[in-house]
Amino acid sequence: MYQITFYDKEQTHLKANKKGITILETALSNHYPLYHLCGGNAKCTTCRVFVSDGLSALGDRNEREQLLADRKGWPKEIRLACQTEVFGDISVRRIIRDNKDLKTVTSESKSSKTGEECFAVILFLDIKGFTAFTEANLPYDVVFVLNRFFHEMSEPILNNGGEIDKFIGDGILAYFQIPNRDMLKGSTKEELEGLKRETMMTAVRACLRMFDQLKKFNIEMKDRFNFTFDIRLGLHAGNVIYGDIGHAEFKSQTVLGDVVNVASRLEALNKKTNTRFLISDAIYNQIRSFVSIDKKVITKLRGKSETMSAYSVIGFKVHDSILSIQKYFDQMNLDSPHWIQNLEKEWKTLSQERGIPIDNEKETTEEEVSLLSLLEKIFDTLGNPKSLQQGIDRLAIWLSNHSIQRDKISQLPPLFLTVCKDSNETLWNENIQTDLKEMWAEITIPLLER
Ligand code: FES
Repeated sequence: MYQITFYDKEQTHLKANKKGITILETALSNHYPLYHLCGGNAKCTTCRVFVSDGLSALGDRNEREQLLADRKGWPKEIRLACQTEVFGDISVRRIIRDNKDLKTVTSESKSSKTGEECFAVILFLDIKGFTAFTEANLPYDVVFVLNRFFHEMSEPILNNGGEIDKFIGDGILAYFQIPNRDMLKGSTKEELEGLKRETMMTAVRACLRMFDQLKKFNIEMKDRFNFTFDIRLGLHAGNVIYGDIGHAEFKSQTVLGDVVNVASRLEALNKKTNTRFLISDAIYNQIRSFVSIDKKVITKLRGKSETMSAYSVIGFKVHDSILSIQKYFDQMNLDSPHWIQNLEKEWKTLSQERGIPIDNEKETTEEEVSLLSLLEKIFDTLGNPKSLQQGIDRLAIWLSNHSIQRDKISQLPPLFLTVCKDSNETLWNENIQTDLKEMWAEITIPLLER
């Protein structure tokens, strides 16, 4: 005979009268109220409990429970009462105790996250000078400019595999996670540290790219509103709680925890220290040999008793081919925008060589823009394999629409390099040549394999 203690407002001790009986069976035979909407078939999750004591006295998850647990990302303490067999004394807490709880739970979609702890790099961004802009401009312009700003700043986050948690006033909360979560299973400690470092580098690259985006954004803002903006960024990394938060009908996935608070405070600290991009010591200590800083700040963050160091990042210390390619094409589009027409002309000659006629009437500006936009997508997503693959797929479609067959694909990279060099000799150098060659090596193989 075992004892199952349910902790609620008060404790209720139930007797489990046979080895291997489930928690739900025990509750029902003792007339203890425990939701079980699907009748104990591991389909509704309403019977789930939190096991606060006696985990080792429970049977392992069966296949049906394991499936649900994996899908929902449950920790080992969350168990389905209808599937969990008891072999000793345990203490549990019901998760659904009333109709309000029930509504909350039944609104969870299949992809909902019900709360998990995971490593993330947290980014806080704030726009500087926006209040002055709102005071001097019409509401329509304020909303228009803020939305444009959010779009421009979100691109580097998304292109580098980050996720936007929320837009807060005129700021952004975003996070970066280790891209392939399956890689975590079975990783050694060293491998895990390496993956965390890569995630930190990706987040820093996205932040540096934001400053490039800001430059482009400000050229337009200066022209249209005679106004320019600046940004402040704070970056910290560690374990956060991640889950769907909100009202049953208005939930969104969000990150919570001290790491998030520290990132937010680092962003705010920029004001005092007259910096633009502060990273925490937790990040700096991991990637110090890759980033250049111009200031170290020792500070006591609001609400913290201990001091911490923060570092003002100004760029990468080592050559970063992804950032170098992205900056190169930013400049190329400004100084020599005709490069894309030159490229298109050269590439189209490849299909003409086969005697396939090109309809010159079709050579519209729209088409040129389309090649430019898909190449820009490729440059922007070089740090994010999943999005890069989508860009390569779109390029393959463009090539096929222009009758450039597979046997001509190996001729594209040298033509591309020649066009870039000839379109602007001043920007050309050995480094960019090597970077572009490497980029094409990465692109050509999936293009050929399609
Ligand atoms: S009663 Fe539905 S999952 Fe347990």
